[in-house]
Amino acid sequence: AIFSCLKGAFGSSAKARLCGHSITASYGEMCYHDNSLVSASLEALIQHLVPTVDYYPDRSYVFTFLLSSRLFLHPYELMTRVCHLCVEQQRSGDALLDKVGGSHVAPKLVQLLTEWTETFPYDFRDERMMRCLKDMTLQVARGDEYSWRAMQQMTQRLIKRLSALGQYEEAVAALNAVAQERPASLKSKQTSAQRSDILSVCDDPFILAQQLTHIELDRLSFIGPEEFIQSFAMKDPLENHKGFFRKRKTSNLEAYVNWFNRLSFLVATEICMPVKKKHRARIIEFFIDVAQECFNIGNFNSLMAIITGMNMSPVARLKKTWNKVNTDKFEILEHQMDPSSNFSNYRTALRGATQRSETAHSSQEKIVIPFFSLLIKDIYFLNEGCANRLPNGHINFEKLWELAKQVSEFLVWRQVICPFDRDRRILQYLVTTPVFTEDELHLASYESEGPENNMEKDRTSLLTRYIWTP
Ligand SMILES: *[C@@H]1O[C@H](CO)[C@@H](O)[C@H](O)[C@H]1NC(C)=O
Repeated sequence: AIFSCLKGAFGSSAKARLCGHSITASYGEMCYHDNSLVSASLEALIQHLVPTVDYYPDRSYVFTFLLSSRLFLHPYELMTRVCHLCVEQQRSGDALLDKVGGSHVAPKLVQLLTEWTETFPYDFRDERMMRCLKDMTLQVARGDEYSWRAMQQMTQRLIKRLSALGQYEEAVAALNAVAQERPASLKSKQTSAQRSDILSVCDDPFILAQQLTHIELDRLSFIGPEEFIQSFAMKDPLENHKGFFRKRKTSNLEAYVNWFNRLSFLVATEICMPVKKKHRARIIEFFIDVAQECFNIGNFNSLMAIITGMNMSPVARLKKTWNKVNTDKFEILEHQMDPSSNFSNYRTALRGATQRSETAHSSQEKIVIPFFSLLIKDIYFLNEGCANRLPNGHINFEKLWELAKQVSEFLVWRQVICPFDRDRRILQYLVTTPVFTEDELHLASYESEGPENNMEKDRTSLLTRYIWTP
């Protein structure tokens, strides 16, 4: 069976070796272990992606290689080579066509390009990629009515996706600009008391958690799977001598991480702002309830951002305020997200949510929003801990399978449709209301509960001098 999935080109030089119960085999440029591809030369991997009249690569290979090949060559180069090989095949196939009875490589190429454009649409923001698609429509699909139409439809869908992406990016930029405007009212605590606070916008923790989940899923849905990998490609000038990724950033991934930071600062701002201790305590209790609802929904990212906000030192030091709060629930949530033992409590909760999602009866039960910074960190360490190439120059495909596994889990989570009603007013508030900077938070905090030691006193006078003078 291990010989069965190979393309003829590699068959002749096959070598097999038994180690224990497992079989390691290599066929020229490709090595398999127990039927699974473990390493190969880049050339062989590209070959393996290219469909022929009677061969189509399996889907997990297509995803894995399209995802990670960018560590070794630009998507455009890959596209060019795949298309070139296909065109060649078609040429040589055309001669035989009459005898074989009409089978053709075009439908399979269309299938490959469809998987590419649907899973990695952002690759096609590069004009050269689009030109290549057009060429393929003309060259390969010509004379095959069905494939030609499929190429047209695929291109239409792609253009729609890319234009939605452009609109999203503009919208995020505009919202950020609003949030950056720092009206005078925020500059000092006395006048900021007139700013509306979270409770005046929404005092139902469940509703607020639902709106947070909307924002999370909106932003997740625009992250391309390749963004996880692209950041490594940029880092490695040797593999990427032309530095082609410098222009195409990982902007949606960054926008999402920025949202996490914003939510933490928003929580801290809401708590530090009120003049009255009783009011501050109420806001803390409210956010604890929101965090609990986020946990129940499976929205671990907002949950963690809220906990982070509450643990920022300007908030944590408000002892008199915290004394008025029942913290039992909060301690349980903090325990859930405790970083010790590599976040083992959280990982268990995440697995629970993932299982619930897999057997879900409603779209609400499908929701899993991971604590995103940790997901990025896991993928980062996976990349750091494993070489891309083996000493013989072959690409370490075991690593690429593992990267693809982690990223494809994310793709499942990303596609959930948020079932809750949107409340535009609350959403608007969450994404645009101005928040304090770290220094401003400290100052607001000292105004609420005076500095307690010399260090805090020094800091207060320093901050007062530098921040709140016009
Ligand atoms: C933490 O756990 C994840 C998931 O199990 C794993 O991939 C990662 O290597 C672990 N990190 C450390 C430092 O042990």
